[in-house]
Amino acid sequence: MLERRAAGRVPPKPHLRQRSATGEVIYEECLTRAGFEGAFSMLYHEHRPHEAKPAELGAQFTASVVVPATTLLRRHYRCGELAAGSGAAEGRTALLVNRDVTVGFLKPSREDTFYVANADGDELFFVLEGGGTLRSPFGELAFERGDYVHVPKGVLHRFLPAAGAAQAWLWLEFAGALRLPRAYRNDVGQLKMDAPYSHRDFRAPVFAGPRDDAIDTLAVKRRGTWHGYRLRGSPLDVVGWDGAVYPFVLPIAAFSPRVGQVHLPPPVHATFEAPGALVCSFVPRPLDFHPEANPVPYPHSSVDVDEVLFYANAAFSSRRGVEAGSLSHHPAGITHGPHPGAYENPTPEKWTDEVAVMLDCSAPLDPTRAALGIEDAGYHASFSA
Ligand SMILES: [Fe+2]
Repeated sequence: MLERRAAGRVPPKPHLRQRSATGEVIYEECLTRAGFEGAFSMLYHEHRPHEAKPAELGAQFTASVVVPATTLLRRHYRCGELAAGSGAAEGRTALLVNRDVTVGFLKPSREDTFYVANADGDELFFVLEGGGTLRSPFGELAFERGDYVHVPKGVLHRFLPAAGAAQAWLWLEFAGALRLPRAYRNDVGQLKMDAPYSHRDFRAPVFAGPRDDAIDTLAVKRRGTWHGYRLRGSPLDVVGWDGAVYPFVLPIAAFSPRVGQVHLPPPVHATFEAPGALVCSFVPRPLDFHPEANPVPYPHSSVDVDEVLFYANAAFSSRRGVEAGSLSHHPAGITHGPHPGAYENPTPEKWTDEVAVMLDCSAPLDPTRAALGIEDAGYHASFSA
């Protein structure tokens, strides 16, 4: 994870006694990942960090009803058919679920009217359409189409989608910590020269505190249940911060793809990893360059993972019938591959404009009832049509 010290009044090391210019004690708030053994960030308040008391939640959150799959099928869901509406916290729809990860989708149409802290896991959004700002005690984090937006577990925040823009975001929630793949980092955690992105590709929040936007409701998610709290004091009453846990943005276009003489397996596009899950980025690139290469994937069965592919455009020569915002799920145990006819193409393409987010999951995924409502019923049979 990247380290960043916010501009402002932060001490050289955390947990030093300090006072504001007017003599007030500056209180520290510690946000830790993996307890005191892992990465952390310190938030500095001129006043005591916000306090909260239990309160009824006015917001209605979407419940996920999981429907265990009884028939092993390649499945395809058209997320664009989901209704738009409400804020990012309330409006998300879970589609595929296992013990490690939730895959969902949302089309937020307005700002969150309360703050959220997800104590169940790290979250990663991929912005298919739209953009906006993530507001947190760390500051303002602007994002746009094509960005990954990472919100660490427990970070208090709310989303402010850009007004007037159509919004469509992929949502991933991980039970374990999201991190950059170990293979890209050296022994002290820095990105290596052959990593597919660099430190400068990651954007941190622009610190904007202290501020008070007069929102006193906090929704905390823990063990799958939302708990309401009424805040006393602004959660944005922060004069600086320091540390290594904070929201960040990574544009998918910053990912530098690898290309081989012949087909390289998708994990070569690994971008983030979490226990039981691997997130890969497919971006425009030259295709396999051996003179005899057939630049479409071979039919295959990933025997150890369920594969999810979220299409950010429809430029997939190996698969017809997909569209921006559609999501395929190929369970372990049965084969999948190019569309019938793709292998026989007499003029293989040299370049692909495809953009997609792939997710490999160790544990089997089950669809939710909402997913079954937007399923493309003919998808499984399309592999042999
Ligand atoms: Fe695959």
